[in-house]
Amino acid sequence: MYFKALRITETPNGTFERDIIHRSIDDLPAGDVLIRVHYSALNYKDGLSATGHKGITKNFPHTPGIEAAGTVEHSLSSKFKPGDEVFITGYDLGMNTSGAFAEYIRVPEEWVIPRPKGLNCKDCMTIGTAGFTAAYALYKMELMGQMPEYGPLVVTGATGGVGSLAVAIFAKAGYEVIAITGKKEATDYLKFLGATHVEPREFVNDCSGRPLARAKWAGALDTVGGNTLSTLIKCCKRDGCVVATGLLSSTKLESAIYPFILNGINLLGIGAGQTPMSLRMKLWNKLMNEWNVTDKLSAIAHEVDLEELKDVYIDAIMEGKTRGRVVVKLYEECCKPQDAMISEVLSGAVLN
Ligand SMILES: NC(=O)c1ccc[n+]([C@@H]2O[C@H](COP(=O)([O-])OP(=O)(O)OC[C@H]3O[C@@H](n4cnc5c(N)ncnc54)[C@H](OP(=O)(O)O)[C@@H]3O)[C@@H](O)[C@H]2O)c1
Repeated sequence: MYFKALRITETPNGTFERDIIHRSIDDLPAGDVLIRVHYSALNYKDGLSATGHKGITKNFPHTPGIEAAGTVEHSLSSKFKPGDEVFITGYDLGMNTSGAFAEYIRVPEEWVIPRPKGLNCKDCMTIGTAGFTAAYALYKMELMGQMPEYGPLVVTGATGGVGSLAVAIFAKAGYEVIAITGKKEATDYLKFLGATHVEPREFVNDCSGRPLARAKWAGALDTVGGNTLSTLIKCCKRDGCVVATGLLSSTKLESAIYPFILNGINLLGIGAGQTPMSLRMKLWNKLMNEWNVTDKLSAIAHEVDLEELKDVYIDAIMEGKTRGRVVVKLYEECCKPQDAMISEVLSGAVLN
């Protein structure tokens, strides 16, 4: 059987080409569970893989796509059977394992999670890695004692995938949110997601050279790195948490020791891709309950097909031009409307 997949090929002169090809199921890597992908989503990491960054993907040709929601087609695992509704985020999917910008993937059973009741494939991928990362960041901050009463949380790269979900989740959890964006026109969008203030990138770019500056926020989730992260640390209130998740502007961090030894700032990191399954389940449970932002997902999602992904959106995400989550539809018959899902949950008819 053949299926459609995005394929990135390295040319003899070291450039990378994108095509949509037909592959055989037999060409997929060995694994326990064959999954019919209904939706995937585009992440910055996919952009890096699709443009040939060898730190993400070593060998080409390759199919990127680090997350998928769909149904089990064939299973060697006792945990899953054909027809089960599942999803996957992270592990090695789409990095050095053939990924989800394709109609089928085959993966180890340890990577597969039953899709939460009441969440269709599109909504699952709209939250996806981005929402999971934002939830993980808030979970870590709260383990360190962060509370809404201490003051606002900053979110950088606020219109991006992680940023949009972080704004919505933090607001839902009761925090005042300062959203930082390079897109002036996105103010209404960010306020709809729950931002109390929307500020330009310069707001978190202290160039005074001083090791500490006036405290302006109680914590932050950063996707940018470099001087943005340094500023978030030096302007954070006593005992606040700054979570480093990304490196959009720089892989470097320069900071004095003073914010840590005088103000007790906690610098936390997130590596969502390798999160143990027990913590994944705990965080998805929070995303389906107290941090549930499903009412915001239609504003965050922008649905595209494989052709649009190839021709427009991979370049757009590398240029910081996308907004929210680019979700990739791979199966025409998907998905049940959310209303139908909810009524099935109420009547107890949904599996998992
Ligand atoms: N640690 C983890 O486990 C984990 C998980 C997921 C993602 N990440 C990382 O988090 C970052 C964001 O990922 P994503 O998938 O959300 O990306 P994304 O959807 O492309 O969002 C990035 C957003 O950041 C802003 N931005 C882009 N370039 C910038 C720059 N040079 N300086 C300042 N702001 C910039 C833009 O938003 P505005 O125009 O609104 O500023 C852009 O839309 C990436 O570095 C990614 O690798 C890490």
